[in-house]
Amino acid sequence: MSVNQYNTTSTTEVPERFENPGLEEHRPRLADRDPRAAKRAERQIVLIFTFSILASLVAIVAYFAIPLDGSPSSVRMSTLLLGLGIGIGMLGIGIAAIYWTKTLMNNIERVEERHPQRSPQETREVAAQMMVDGVNDSGIARRPLLKGALAGAVALAPLPILVPLVGNLGGDWDVSKFKHTMWAPGMRLARDPSGEPIKASDVTIGSVFHVIPEPLKDEEEFYEEKAKAIVLLVRLDPRELKEPAEKADWSYDGIVAYSKICTHVGCPVALYEQQTHHLLCPCHQSTFDISDQAKVVFGPAKRPLPQLPITVDDEGYLVARSDFTEPVGPSFWERLK
Ligand code: FES
Repeated sequence: MSVNQYNTTSTTEVPERFENPGLEEHRPRLADRDPRAAKRAERQIVLIFTFSILASLVAIVAYFAIPLDGSPSSVRMSTLLLGLGIGIGMLGIGIAAIYWTKTLMNNIERVEERHPQRSPQETREVAAQMMVDGVNDSGIARRPLLKGALAGAVALAPLPILVPLVGNLGGDWDVSKFKHTMWAPGMRLARDPSGEPIKASDVTIGSVFHVIPEPLKDEEEFYEEKAKAIVLLVRLDPRELKEPAEKADWSYDGIVAYSKICTHVGCPVALYEQQTHHLLCPCHQSTFDISDQAKVVFGPAKRPLPQLPITVDDEGYLVARSDFTEPVGPSFWERLK
């Protein structure tokens, strides 16, 4: 067995000695004995790094080449290519590094003698020399192609993450559009996702409906508008509702409609507890009391869910009285008023 050629023993302290724990005699690998095998392994490693580079390039090209027009197919394709590109890019670097270590880097077993934590100067110099030797052992100085492939793969790998971030800096930062949704006076409340309008008589006490504006299905920016306008509809016993005088006509016979977007950081609130009238946000457990203007009773949210004023039309369908009277979603938007 080869042993350490570095003497890390301090002149003043004698390290503890130990027996060989059972390591086998060192056996040189094929690449250690045969320069052609080493060259072949090098080419294979370069090939894997090249795959990594190509995958990262695919992710970058996909980000620019696939326009997100709001259709599910474009979102799916963009996400798939970005995910595959970034994943294979990172995986390629990992596989190439492991393969490089296993085939070309020095694998001689070494015994390192123990010594006090604070190393004497002499040991530090030895450590520095070991690092230099390690670089030499890796052969990177003698293999410029391998060095270039490694540098290229490592340099490109973060780009699929950075490019979208930088690209979005020039995006649409007009936050005023978050102050309004597509709800308008007389617009019918419809089931999500079918778009079927809802009659007040369909809503029994204790039932919960996920609601969108009826015209939403024809809307060009379907997802953007839905993300702002989605509402949760609940019917309670009217005697259990606590409504201030100015909002007495915002509900209809115990039916109330509240924004489904949590005022903490915007998750969809959806877990309704019929007995307590509590509505829970699954993300960070903010809890809103539907019987008392959706006030926050627990959790990090700082303001109630905005209420959508509703009534019924001549045919008994539930309709909005107006848009929300305050911004929906995280409290951040409220501060921009
Ligand atoms: S997003 Fe709802 S509690 Fe955090």
